[in-house]
Amino acid sequence: MSKRKKIAIFGSGAGSNAEQIISYFKNNELAQVWGVVCNKKQAGILKVAANNNVERVVINSDFKCGEQELLEVLKDAQVDFIVLAGFLRKIPLSLTRAYENRILNIHPSLLPKHGGKGMYGKHVHQAVFDAKEHQSGITIHFVNEEYDEGAIIFQASVDLDANDSPETIEEKVRLLEKKHFPQQIEKTIRNGV
Ligand code: GRF
Repeated sequence: MSKRKKIAIFGSGAGSNAEQIISYFKNNELAQVWGVVCNKKQAGILKVAANNNVERVVINSDFKCGEQELLEVLKDAQVDFIVLAGFLRKIPLSLTRAYENRILNIHPSLLPKHGGKGMYGKHVHQAVFDAKEHQSGITIHFVNEEYDEGAIIFQASVDLDANDSPETIEEKVRLLEKKHFPQQIEKTIRNGV
């Protein structure tokens, strides 16, 4: 069996996506989750990492972890692929260049609608609700220097109706995330890391 690819998950929130991805790759022969990178000491995603015995790296706003640059840590650990799951900081050029076409993000709307700076979490579902959209969904895309503008690799949609609220929209979208994100990560790694 060739060496399993190493995935680092970047997140700033509860870590529900991270939990699904870690368990999906637990016995996967292609890849494994090396660890979690987070910019918030108290975020739930760090507890998810601890509960699953994967590395935890807390970074500051300059992407430094302790005295080291995050890129050094990822290279020393031979991380092959980065997955953003609710990570609320812009990825610096140093990382997007070092990991070109090897960083995936999931956005909880059908981009290009309701994307861009400041559009994350509940703000997205509120915007979809306010726009009276008949559909919402998820977009999985490569990450480049601009927010939510990398090449889209996958989208899945769900119908909305007059009974929906921003909260029910979020519930419907999270079901799509759970169903599709881990497989799309595996497919992307299989196709070409
Ligand atoms: C998810 O809704 C994801 O689509 C977005 O950020 C949220 C992360 O949630 N990128 P969690 O931290 O994985 O629970």
